[in-house]
Amino acid sequence: MAETSGYSSTAKSLHWLIVALLTAQFTVAWTMPHIGRNTPVTTLISLHFSFGIIILAVASARLVWRATHAEPAPLDGVPPWQVQSARVIHWLLYILLLVLPILGWINASWRGMPIVLFGLELPKLIGTRAPGWGWTGDVHNLLAYYVMLTLIGLHILAGLYHYFIRRDGVLQRMLPGG
Ligand code: HEM
Ligand code: HEM
Repeated sequence: MAETSGYSSTAKSLHWLIVALLTAQFTVAWTMPHIGRNTPVTTLISLHFSFGIIILAVASARLVWRATHAEPAPLDGVPPWQVQSARVIHWLLYILLLVLPILGWINASWRGMPIVLFGLELPKLIGTRAPGWGWTGDVHNLLAYYVMLTLIGLHILAGLYHYFIRRDGVLQRMLPGG
């Protein structure tokens, strides 16, 4: 895998598509009724499932793409600790982009809620109220609110730090013209 100097348009498109989908997903998650025992699957809840499954699909495509294409070489002058910590955060984000929707899918199955994507009902991953799987909802919420939003916050702060303080062109590499 040859290292290149910048992100390809495929990498950039997938990156910003995920950003747009996650923005929509968190907006829906905040707006929808809190999901408890016997909550009916209203439009917003079913929208949450649909966006979540689309995120799972796009993130899987992105990971396949990433596994077959090396990241661009770090820019000259960026300290190694920054390159390493960026890598750690990127991989944690990739893992969350898979684990979070899968936990949501398991929890919706556990609750007996149908997951319908463009009219097609997806299979249930576990049986309704299967013993030992009730924790998946709490962990899903916790990972989304605390872990994912924190990592995204750090990631954005790092981008702004490179743009405004180091002025080294790292942020521009992920922008359409960069
Ligand atoms: C990256 C994708 C996803 C994100 C960021 C996300 C985010 C969230 C958030 C923030 C909540 C808490 C809402 C509240 O405050 O009440 C939530 C709850 C929930 N989500 Fe997701 N979600 C994602 C994918 C999915 C998927 C794919 C499904 C199902 C197919 C799903 C099913 C659920 C369920 C069942 C709950 C309620 C859990 C409980 O409180 O026990 N989510 N999600
Ligand atoms: C406004 C929000 C965001 C900005 C400004 C931003 C900016 C960037 C920049 C500049 C890079 C390239 C870093 C480098 O060259 O080393 C990058 C990479 C990356 N970003 Fe973001 N990002 C944002 C949101 C997100 C979100 C929400 C996610 C996913 C949850 C995400 C996941 C990633 C990943 C996984 C990479 C690594 C790509 C790779 O090399 O495989 N970003 N981002």
